[in-house]
Amino acid sequence: MIELRGVSKTVDSGGSPLTILHRLDLELPAGHSVAIVGPSGSGKSTLLGLMAGLDAPTTGEIVVDGTTITSLGEDALARLRGRVIGFVFQFFHLMPSLTAFENVLVPMELAGARDAAARATRLLKEVGLDARMHHYPSQLSGGEQQRVALARALANQPKVLLADEPTGNLDSNNGQHVIDMLYDDNRQRGTTLVLVTHDRELAARADLQILMRDGRVVERIDQSRVAAAQPVAAGGR
Ligand SMILES: Nc1ncnc2c1ncn2[C@@H]1O[C@H](COP(=O)(O)OP(=O)(O)OP(=O)(O)O)[C@@H](O)[C@H]1O
Ligand SMILES: [Mg+2]
Repeated sequence: MIELRGVSKTVDSGGSPLTILHRLDLELPAGHSVAIVGPSGSGKSTLLGLMAGLDAPTTGEIVVDGTTITSLGEDALARLRGRVIGFVFQFFHLMPSLTAFENVLVPMELAGARDAAARATRLLKEVGLDARMHHYPSQLSGGEQQRVALARALANQPKVLLADEPTGNLDSNNGQHVIDMLYDDNRQRGTTLVLVTHDRELAARADLQILMRDGRVVERIDQSRVAAAQPVAAGGR
């Protein structure tokens, strides 16, 4: 479960305060998939970054998987991010001095995983990058970097997977594959999946859609009941 209580974010904009996220309360049930949608600049990435503890809110409290992350220090937060939260950044943030393989491997080694190398290889194969494993990020296309970022986010089998525009740089084939990987992980391991997307198909598959506008949640659409009420079509989910 991810819980936000009275969360807001105000930044300094040329000497005057600018509120980019207005006070909001939100509960995202564990194991659900949630799509955050809304126009550019509406605060989607800001909200996701707060859930990951990458940034601190101006007011309010955030609880992720039973831990109040807003009262944790930097070290405890970093440990929690390594153990519980997987994050796919909108602009990847891969380590430029590490190969694709090493980018996926290092978080597992830091967490003390035993089969790290084999798992890194398997994850990179799964995202279709077996031939690019030992390339550096600068030698990879945007879409390839995005898939490395996804493999890295899945490396430590996080309970919570946060993904900012995970299909934003992918063609429809690769996009569909990444969508399937995210939702498979959500269903098979019960990962809580929160993704920001402009992709209608991706958003339509989520249990819950959160619509944002001008730093506010303007609508919350529960799609799980709609889906449950309909018979599952052959070959469907
Ligand atoms: N550190 C900052 N200082 C000033 N303004 C900021 C800061 N961070 C974000 N903003 C502003 O807050 C608003 C929300 O930004 P955010 O990145 O969350 O939007 P978004 O919904 O993710 O947009 P996009 O779909 O384009 O990625 C934007 O208008 C942005 O310019
Ligand atoms: Mg964004």
